[in-house]
Amino acid sequence: MAMKPSVAVRDYTVPEDRVPLVIPEQLGVSEIKLLKEEIADLLRQRKAVLVAHYYVDGSIQDLAEETGGCVSDSLEMARFGRENQASTLVVSGVRFMGETAKILSPDKMVVMPTLEAECSLDLGCPPEDFEKFCQANPDRKVVVYANTSVHVKALADWVVTSSVALPIIDALDASGHKILWAPDKHLGRYIQQQTGADMLLWSGSCVVHDEFKSKALFELKRVYPEAGVLVHPESPAGVIDVADAVGSTSQILKAARELPHKEFVVATDRGLFHKLRQQNPNKRFLEAPTAGEGATCRSCAHCPWMAMNDLRTLAAVLRDKSSMHDNEIVIDPILSAQAMIPLKRMLDFPS
Ligand code: 13P
Ligand code: SF4
Repeated sequence: MAMKPSVAVRDYTVPEDRVPLVIPEQLGVSEIKLLKEEIADLLRQRKAVLVAHYYVDGSIQDLAEETGGCVSDSLEMARFGRENQASTLVVSGVRFMGETAKILSPDKMVVMPTLEAECSLDLGCPPEDFEKFCQANPDRKVVVYANTSVHVKALADWVVTSSVALPIIDALDASGHKILWAPDKHLGRYIQQQTGADMLLWSGSCVVHDEFKSKALFELKRVYPEAGVLVHPESPAGVIDVADAVGSTSQILKAARELPHKEFVVATDRGLFHKLRQQNPNKRFLEAPTAGEGATCRSCAHCPWMAMNDLRTLAAVLRDKSSMHDNEIVIDPILSAQAMIPLKRMLDFPS
């Protein structure tokens, strides 16, 4: 019988007042075209490459691909940044993605459209508290999600993303290790249930995925009985339980391409719909229900920090060298070298 994960610490849900209210400005077609041309030109001048996540604005995702950069999940962003020859990486996503790029490529300049793009999982795992948690459980392998600060990564044995968390925990479990997992409780519970590993969980969550509701999803499934359900594993257990496919952003894209369904209900940030629709023009994609109308939720189905990435901000950062320096990721080299060890383990893990 599957073992139940133990949750050992207080709840680290990020309070509402730390979640910004970001309403992305709608740009006209001609402004988008002009900004994209200007940014493409600036990227060439700065010998820079654009590395974007699937949740950022669709025009930034397109620009990354059109200019020889990449749009991908957090694991591939890390790989691409490390392997690309450009001297400057422009990372469009949230801060832990920029930090990961810098840790893996300490000699490259890593710039972000804004350094204020946080992540609720990162905010919900303060390094001082996490260090005490590790010290209280010295018999466990410390495995942290990539959505954490460099300080937390530096305390870990392994870093994982949702693409590789399952096989890595499976391998650690098979070697007889007990796991200390942080910060996402839903992803931790899902991995524990799939692998049967002995896992002690930190109690953090993503403000976006935590909002998906299983009851409303059941009701939507009644209206669209033929629809497949695709779920990111940062979602609550009740939502994961009804999924036809559970996985990272790139694994959701793969499932949408390969499953036979003609329509899907998708429980992840709505930024992914841009690529889902590009890759599957003949399929229909519906947003999984969140807290719904009248909810106080500030982030329903769109990450407010990802939403800080827009074309105007990106162009402004690249226009002059001083703003590039103001938006550069800088990490203490000793801390960076410590965080590189568990990150490198993940990238070297045979997938
Ligand atoms: P992926 O690793 O699946 O791209 O997810 C990153 C993330 O922040 C999901 O909320
Ligand atoms: Fe973090 Fe959630 Fe935003 Fe992903 S969607 S970056 S986990 S807050």
